[in-house]
Amino acid sequence: MSRFQLIIRRENTDLESKLSFERGESLLLLCQKAGISLEAPCGGKGICGKCRVKFLKNPPLPQPAERNSLTPQELRQGIRLLCVTKPSGDCEILLFGEKKPDVIGGKYDICWENILWEAECDNAKPGGTSYNPDIYNAAGHDKDGRALDSGNIAEGYFIAVDIGTTTLVMEKRRKCDGRVEAVYKEVNAQRVFGADVLTRMEASLSGKGEELSQIMKGQLEKGVTQLCNDGKKADFMVIAANTTMIHLLMNYSVKNLGRSPFIPETLDEILTEIGGLKTYIMPGFSAFVGGDIGAGLYMLHFLGESKQKETKDEWNLFIDLGTNAELVLFGKDRGICCATAAGPAFDGDAGTGFFGSDMIAVLAGLLEKGIVDEMGTLNDAYFEKGVSVPLKNGTMQISQKQIRNLQLAKAAVRSGIEILLLKAGVEKSEIKQVFLAGGFGYYLDVHGAVTIGLLPEELEEKTTACGNTALLGAAVYGYKILTGTCRDLPLQMQAINLATEEEFADSYVNYINIQKT
Ligand code: FES
Repeated sequence: MSRFQLIIRRENTDLESKLSFERGESLLLLCQKAGISLEAPCGGKGICGKCRVKFLKNPPLPQPAERNSLTPQELRQGIRLLCVTKPSGDCEILLFGEKKPDVIGGKYDICWENILWEAECDNAKPGGTSYNPDIYNAAGHDKDGRALDSGNIAEGYFIAVDIGTTTLVMEKRRKCDGRVEAVYKEVNAQRVFGADVLTRMEASLSGKGEELSQIMKGQLEKGVTQLCNDGKKADFMVIAANTTMIHLLMNYSVKNLGRSPFIPETLDEILTEIGGLKTYIMPGFSAFVGGDIGAGLYMLHFLGESKQKETKDEWNLFIDLGTNAELVLFGKDRGICCATAAGPAFDGDAGTGFFGSDMIAVLAGLLEKGIVDEMGTLNDAYFEKGVSVPLKNGTMQISQKQIRNLQLAKAAVRSGIEILLLKAGVEKSEIKQVFLAGGFGYYLDVHGAVTIGLLPEELEEKTTACGNTALLGAAVYGYKILTGTCRDLPLQMQAINLATEEEFADSYVNYINIQKT
């Protein structure tokens, strides 16, 4: 059979890959073969229309799914869908650019010096209000309070990893001081099975579990190889990830994870080996609030960001927004957490420069201008066709459906916050700080979030975006491994399922309107 040549170019870069193929091979799989991990939000079923690619030469005839998802003008321009297109001759394609840059570090600089410094604060010393022998000892003191020298930690490297549903980020850090030596970042290769955790769980349940596991292990191995190709080998790896990602990585059954009462195979720390490295997978709290959130709390706690200020009556709120929004209300030694499905509401539109977090600012603007009312309805002039929002490179059409999705998601998140407060018996005035985790939180317009009622008005001034806390938490966990100290988070955590909370339905209805509350 004759072979053809495919040239793959990537928008805004000079990167070019070439490979040969036979007629009938899917473009999505060909890109994968070329080592390019791409998104297939609907799992490659040709339904979502999001896996767009542009043929620079020799576009194939459009498939029915492409005629449904793309406009005649787009088809004429050579736009096709990666998952359904099967090129039939030599061709050249352009893959569209990345979304907003992923947040790797964020607000905090994690290094051992900071942790050691923290232990030197008066409050953290024996007799201080926030003295905790475990933290104090871990942060460089022996049991008699004598300062340890972090320089005694052996030379070498370890790798901290955040397996996000969308992105995989790996950092090689120096063991002696915790500084970052190299970073590896890729789209999560499992995206080819679907953009969200539910689609991937479906894929796992339909017999693709081993494939999903191998694809992620292969990607981690590739990351280890690239991070260590300078000859400086790492000794171990720490992974933070949500509970589903861990199940998919380990090829645990997700059968009980996706149905009530949502029982994971395990929530404990897992010790395994990946890419020839001893690998620690961080523990989680529930099927919906996993080790990535635990890592965030771990980072805040051991960096002292929260504990210095906590007394028995002072609380913090940790929010990680995405298709699944995780919420944790935590105090000095106890916490309560839940998760709520936000669906596609916070999705932007790849290729237009419009991002999920922008939707909140846009909706707040439409509300302030009276283009949308508090019930979430666009006024008559825009109801049918939607409203055009100016962007850097043109305009984006916002539909009534998108507004409705965002309205439902914001009601779910806000109700989650209210239920946690109610269950813990905590007033909003008792919340000292709100930490917004993750890339979405990093770019979130806090004022807009308050304007539409996603966040309570009282918390606007207390809210800080703190970046990729999962990755930083994995680094702190690495520190605990190096110092051989207890790795338990000293918080009693209660995980609740909002769906079974009586007050949730009423609360959801209370917060459905788009308004400051
Ligand atoms: S159309 Fe959804 S992944 Fe291609």
